[in-house]
Amino acid sequence: MEDFKKCSDAAFCNRLMGSVDEGYMIDPASVKIAGSKLLCRVKNAEIPEVDLELTLTSYGSFIRLHVNEDASKGRFQVPGVLQKELTESESAWETSKAAAGYALLKLGSADIRLKYKPLELTVDIAGKPAIVFNGRHMFNFEHLRQKKEGDPEGWWEETFKSHVDSKPRGPEAISFDLTFPGFNHVYGIPEHATSLSLKSTVDLAENMTSEPYRLYNLDVFEYMADSPFGLYGSIPFMWAHRLGATVGAFWLNAAEMFIDVGKTDKETATNWVAESGVLDLFLLLGPSPHQVSEQYALVTGPSALPQYFALGYHQCRWNYRDEADVREVDANFDKFDIPYDVIWLDIEHTDGKRYFTWDQHLFPNPAKLQEDVAEHGRKMVTIIDPHIKRDPSYYIYQEAEKGKYFVADKDGKDFDGWCWPGSSSYLDMLNPAVREWWAGQFSLAKYKGSTPSLYVWNDMNEPSVFNGPEITMPKDNLHFGNVEHRALHNQNGQLFHLATAMGLEERGRAVYGSDGDRPFVLSRAFFAGSQTVGPIWTGDNTADWDHLRVSLSMIMSVGLAGLPFNGADVGGFFGNVDAELQTRWNQLATFYPFFRGHAHLDAKRREPWLFGDEATRRIRDAIRQRYILLPYIYTQFRHANTSGLPVMRPLWFDFPEEPATFAVDDEFMLGPALLAAPVLEAGAQSRAVYLPGAGPWYDAQTGALVKPDKAGALSVPVTMDDVPSYLRGGHIIPLRERARRSTAAAKNDPYTLLVTLDNKGQASGDLYLDDGSSFAYKRGMYAHRVFEYKDSALSSKALPGSPSRYGTDLVIERIIIVGLKHKAASYAAKNKETGQRYTVEKGPVAQKAGVAQEALIVRKPDLPVAGDWSLQISVTK
Ligand code: GLC
Repeated sequence: MEDFKKCSDAAFCNRLMGSVDEGYMIDPASVKIAGSKLLCRVKNAEIPEVDLELTLTSYGSFIRLHVNEDASKGRFQVPGVLQKELTESESAWETSKAAAGYALLKLGSADIRLKYKPLELTVDIAGKPAIVFNGRHMFNFEHLRQKKEGDPEGWWEETFKSHVDSKPRGPEAISFDLTFPGFNHVYGIPEHATSLSLKSTVDLAENMTSEPYRLYNLDVFEYMADSPFGLYGSIPFMWAHRLGATVGAFWLNAAEMFIDVGKTDKETATNWVAESGVLDLFLLLGPSPHQVSEQYALVTGPSALPQYFALGYHQCRWNYRDEADVREVDANFDKFDIPYDVIWLDIEHTDGKRYFTWDQHLFPNPAKLQEDVAEHGRKMVTIIDPHIKRDPSYYIYQEAEKGKYFVADKDGKDFDGWCWPGSSSYLDMLNPAVREWWAGQFSLAKYKGSTPSLYVWNDMNEPSVFNGPEITMPKDNLHFGNVEHRALHNQNGQLFHLATAMGLEERGRAVYGSDGDRPFVLSRAFFAGSQTVGPIWTGDNTADWDHLRVSLSMIMSVGLAGLPFNGADVGGFFGNVDAELQTRWNQLATFYPFFRGHAHLDAKRREPWLFGDEATRRIRDAIRQRYILLPYIYTQFRHANTSGLPVMRPLWFDFPEEPATFAVDDEFMLGPALLAAPVLEAGAQSRAVYLPGAGPWYDAQTGALVKPDKAGALSVPVTMDDVPSYLRGGHIIPLRERARRSTAAAKNDPYTLLVTLDNKGQASGDLYLDDGSSFAYKRGMYAHRVFEYKDSALSSKALPGSPSRYGTDLVIERIIIVGLKHKAASYAAKNKETGQRYTVEKGPVAQKAGVAQEALIVRKPDLPVAGDWSLQISVTK
């Protein structure tokens, strides 16, 4: 860990973290109101050079505070993240006349007050203070300046280990404090391997007790399972939640950042410091968790709708050696009857780490290999990293060098850094022309040996530079438009991810016509807005129980930060996993939004069938369970796509009124209807479970009513077969229960509806359907069904406003009802429109041997999945 900086090693953090300046104030004479905007100038009595432009804009459910120097100073503003269609609200600012004045704005239940001297912004929600900006006077804005004799050390140059950062622009950091009065819990600001509810990093009574959370995209070798260190991705978006209010704060800034969190009984006080850029702060007013997610999606875009196959199981390792190895693994999935969708090739498949090429001996016929794998509807993925081998005979290098597409070092020469291929240069994805050129490399004609069923993995895009400072690129490197790497570092990986996804999108249109093919590109580095591009994973974790456990908070915190499609390497990347851990990890990953087994080059082989018969059976069950849940999971991704909702999420997201949930991070919700409390300890005989809300909750295997104690707690005995998971009463979950080898093989399978009644005997749920692969849904080629159970009748209707233009003959072949109150021996079901009757039997929820029969099953009603119908359930004797 000595490879990486602490706050005290970074000159800007040293200068500004905790630094108080009461001199910043708004010049009252400068205040102008223009529609939804308030514009004014910020000065500092002690620093005459400070003359900042402040703009406060209201958007109805959130506000934006933007502060910058004169545009001619050229401070970097992050491109491409904000949605173009942000609608400003009709707002009525009220300003006071006096010099000690303020401006006021009412937005829904929020009162916003901008105080002039000293500068302070407060947001009250429903009459109670919720967010205070600069209440502790930690706002500092280092103006750009000329170098002078006697300037303090660290302003114009700094050194870390043997690396010298030349800092030609001098000090340009920005800091501020944000206080959340009445809040004891804050979340988000990934990526850190730590608890979901963020721990205090300072003791406000005394001095700093720990490192602040760092946001700086880095390739951290063997990261620890509990640390505020910055990992591969950064999203400067923090949530605060208390009874009755949820709010968010998002700072659009891609420079290195540190955030201190200090908690007292009364409030959570935070202090944010970034090395450069501008202040561009969005305060999201909630006041519910769902609304904060929606507001963040309005600002940075909702999540891309994944292809259906991408939600299946992915099999990866570094490396599948050769074509025969790939074929054998592929065949073994069928032999052991385990479904899977994608097999991955890591860096060793290339000719000397020259991406887009193949090792001629190991992979002589890559297109044929992909075609054979695709015969069963499966896909392949190859890794394409951002470092380009400096080899004049390599076509990618040649074209990029000629086009001047590489990031420059501080002297203007192509930057030369060390990565997998040895000496490498790095593409400058800030330049739109480079992104376009890169996208073109994915056409079938250019990428030799690729086929339409090949997708892509972007790794090392922080970027990782083995001989660079902190294993990344020097900050004084130069990008397009003379932008220093310093200013855009945290966005670097996203731009690469975006250019790759653009490439697959173009390929898709070339192959399939205008509806195209949704890209699938996995990235390691990420930033705000990456959700609009594709999935990420949590990088190089370790095969141990701590990493199994911390994966829950990491995945949930990235999900809260608007990026739901993410997961952790199943089994743990480094080290060897035993049968118990591998089984437990697969049982948990059934519910990961992104489900991929992966392993380091030196780790022992760990395909699902290598841990003995019992473990194989359990891992098969876990992966099958994932496939059974896919219609429900895909529907949750549709909600992420329309409203930004996280898929795997903390209990408080769905139970915001229950303080006992606020810190829970060893259980989670998958969508609104399913709670999982996976086993996270070796040798576990039981698992403590907390069930929020008034219930009822049902066992997800049997359908039996679960009875926690008054406080919601219960202790569940567990064997290696058990994955404690619960169905929330009042929901309807769409499933596909037939065991198949892949999602493609299940394409024409019928559906099951699992109805879980609440205390009133009611339930509702939905199902999103489309072709699962193209963009046709964007022109209305989808169906979104809403199911309701009420007055003993189950009905299906189109979601109001949905076009129902997606035609399908598929049917619902089973209906499972749990929670029917009366234990009458016999039920019947009748189609209200056609009069047809169906038998109703007792049965279990899960179709497995030995599961208790606590549910009622309507067999073969064969109701159209995309049609309207209504089914009456009645007691016959
Ligand atoms: C990095 C990735 C890992 C990959 C390896 C080789 O460590 O995080 O997933 O297997 O590089 O490409």
